[in-house]
Amino acid sequence: MSPPPTTTGSRGRPRTRRLRLLVRRHSQPRPLRPGRVDLLSDLATAWDDDEPPLSERELVFTGQTLLIAGHETTTNVIGKMVALLLADRRRWERLLADPSLVPLAVEEALRFDAEPGIGVPAPGEMRLDRSPNPHLAFGAGPHACLGQELVRTELRTVLHVLLRRLPSLELAAPTADLRRLEGLAVGGLSEVPVRW
Ligand code: HEM
Repeated sequence: MSPPPTTTGSRGRPRTRRLRLLVRRHSQPRPLRPGRVDLLSDLATAWDDDEPPLSERELVFTGQTLLIAGHETTTNVIGKMVALLLADRRRWERLLADPSLVPLAVEEALRFDAEPGIGVPAPGEMRLDRSPNPHLAFGAGPHACLGQELVRTELRTVLHVLLRRLPSLELAAPTADLRRLEGLAVGGLSEVPVRW
């Protein structure tokens, strides 16, 4: 594992510091309760004969990485996926008519977004039933995204729930007005105004 970035100095910015304290608090080994899944406690107590336990620095860095990689990315991709699907309401209607397309539509939204995305000439046509769809949204090789199956599950769940509960969902602003957020791990939209 690479060492934590040092650009924030030894004390770090307040938000980074709070995040570090939070992860550190949750990394203290605690008695396990039946059925409890506790990744940070497991990491804090895991070692084998060849490898020493993670140092506190490594543990906190791993926790921070998982929190940021696991939250900011998916949150933004949910907004972009919904905007992409609503940008042409025929896409939404098609999913309403055939929700079994949701898994393929999620892959297509990931593929489409990994390239320029909304408002910019598209990477080919957006085809909700594209299969196979070997896109590179999660990278490739030994360092391909560790969270990709979680992301797929989350995006499929969100889409199923929205289709079921808000079938009349539509964009409340022209797609040209949607503003991109830069400087994030996977980028996002500053807001996605909708009505139903
Ligand atoms: C839509 C959401 C996400 C996208 C688009 C995404 C994309 C990526 C990409 C492109 C990489 C780099 C792959 C490479 O270097 O070849 C990566 C790495 C990684 N992702 Fe994600 N990711 C997402 C969500 C998540 C989530 C939810 C988690 C964890 C809960 C996660 C954990 C990681 C980790 C740990 C790595 C580093 C893997 C390694 O270096 O071995 N990601 N992700």
